[in-house]
Amino acid sequence: MTVSVEQKNTAEISSLKHRHLLGLSTYSADEIQLILDTAGQFKDVLERPIKKVPPLRGITVVNLFFESSTRTRISFELAEKRLSADTINFSASGSSVSKGETLKDTAQNIEAMKVDMAVIRHRSPGAAHFLTQCVDSVVINAGDGAREHPTQALLDMMTISEHFPSFNGLNVSILGDITHSRVARSNIFGLVTMGANVTLCGPKTLMPRGIEDLGVRVTHRLDEALEGCDVAMALRIQLERQGASLFPSLREYHNQFGLTLDHLAANPDLLVMHPGPVNRGVELASEVVDHERAIILDQVTNGVAVRMAVLFLLSPGPSSRA
Ligand code: CP
Repeated sequence: MTVSVEQKNTAEISSLKHRHLLGLSTYSADEIQLILDTAGQFKDVLERPIKKVPPLRGITVVNLFFESSTRTRISFELAEKRLSADTINFSASGSSVSKGETLKDTAQNIEAMKVDMAVIRHRSPGAAHFLTQCVDSVVINAGDGAREHPTQALLDMMTISEHFPSFNGLNVSILGDITHSRVARSNIFGLVTMGANVTLCGPKTLMPRGIEDLGVRVTHRLDEALEGCDVAMALRIQLERQGASLFPSLREYHNQFGLTLDHLAANPDLLVMHPGPVNRGVELASEVVDHERAIILDQVTNGVAVRMAVLFLLSPGPSSRA
């Protein structure tokens, strides 16, 4: 579907079946493609000298960040500003959350100030879904615990789509801490829906049992995961989410699952991705992070365009704003 990002009417906006973006597990291939196509148009806008368009004029968006973030938070704020929305930023630290106020009360108090859309990052899986039950605003999940991080997967898919004509039959390997990764889960849902072959590789202790049921292949050997692989997506080792040490040492992890220049030499067409923040020398050798086939900063660039597309497609129409 072709949409004009500058003169959009309400009927076209409602072509996404969902009212919220809580995860990709329920989004269809058509919906994902619509978001990617729309993001492509916004990327063109972002190349212009004046990078701002008016479609969210009159819309107020609150960014509720209960957990640390650099990329997602700045990217959403920039996307909102590029779309001419009014933006409010909320951080749990320094707020009345520290006095014991609940998520529900915090969100309802902010919504009482006439907010239309809420972006939420929270450590608890299901927090974004819970929010939809507390407020009338459109809710966008910016990462809920280890459950989903849908806009990350969408920006990853946009970045992949700039290098390949189709997702059909594309071999994508996701490497590392699958158990604690919302990025992995959203990418699995999105990539499998779009027709890619997804392989998961990591230590047994970081691989959820039964994950094959999501339509992916599992291996614990990096050389097997890289054979015929088009894109390797390394995940951050999330030391803050691990209750106990699930592998002997970071050095041993790097030796078994870290990507190095040798892997790039052995796989001359392989592209490397990482959602960030990178632990240099752990998931990726430092030279790999800076290699021309590492498209990590392209992911970050595309994040703004993808979040503009999501905000734009989910934004309430003029009638519901009254
Ligand atoms: N990729 C990602 O979510 O990064 P931040 O935690 O910095 O937002």
